[in-house]
Amino acid sequence: MAPMNDRSPGTPAAARPLRVAVLLSGNGSSLENLLEHIDAGEVNAEVVVVISSKEKAFGLERARRRGIPAIAVSRKQHPAKQVFNDRLHEALAPYDVDLVTLLGFLSLFELRGRYAGRTLNVHPALIPSFCGTGFYGSRVHEAVLASGVKLSGATVHLSDDQYDTGPILLQEAVPVLEDDTVDSLAARVQEAERRLLPRAVQLFAEGRVHVEGNRARIDG
Ligand code: GAR
Repeated sequence: MAPMNDRSPGTPAAARPLRVAVLLSGNGSSLENLLEHIDAGEVNAEVVVVISSKEKAFGLERARRRGIPAIAVSRKQHPAKQVFNDRLHEALAPYDVDLVTLLGFLSLFELRGRYAGRTLNVHPALIPSFCGTGFYGSRVHEAVLASGVKLSGATVHLSDDQYDTGPILLQEAVPVLEDDTVDSLAARVQEAERRLLPRAVQLFAEGRVHVEGNRARIDG
């Protein structure tokens, strides 16, 4: 188990940068964004491993270019959910990870106790709306536009063992405009994601996140 006690309430944040794993399935622009914030000194963290559920995900290439270990654990080649998760956990194990981030990861990551309370998911809508099985990427924005709601947004929440549930840590609303397309709405939501996720990782780095029931509280 990673030394989360170092980051518990009332104790100063550990000097060591937070060791972050990124799980993704695609382009990896969210990974790039996190790395840029780390480079800028705004987030006291280090991405120690990137794992993709798709072998050809560009996110793996982004990691390799920066010298970050990049591992494919193909969902296709592991049709049994449990075996797939066995492989994910084996891939994570050597890296002494403090925080797992699901950045466009399109499969279910089983926490198995080990990563409970320290796994973040980013969702491109205001949970609990427009989320759950089948709601990912452009499908989310299509559903938002079809529904006629006037607000959408981005959510960062702690994962549990289901899709898009678990205590919400940060949310930011964005307007849905009259002339929005899926692409224009997605771009506006993604801008919000790019502010929220680095902030959420930094809150973990500072040991300021606490969960009580279904509520995630931020100290200070
Ligand atoms: C992100 O916009 C994220 O919100 C979405 O996938 C995109 C990943 O883009 N995640 C989901 O829809 C999860 N339900 P990226 O690969 O360029 O970072």
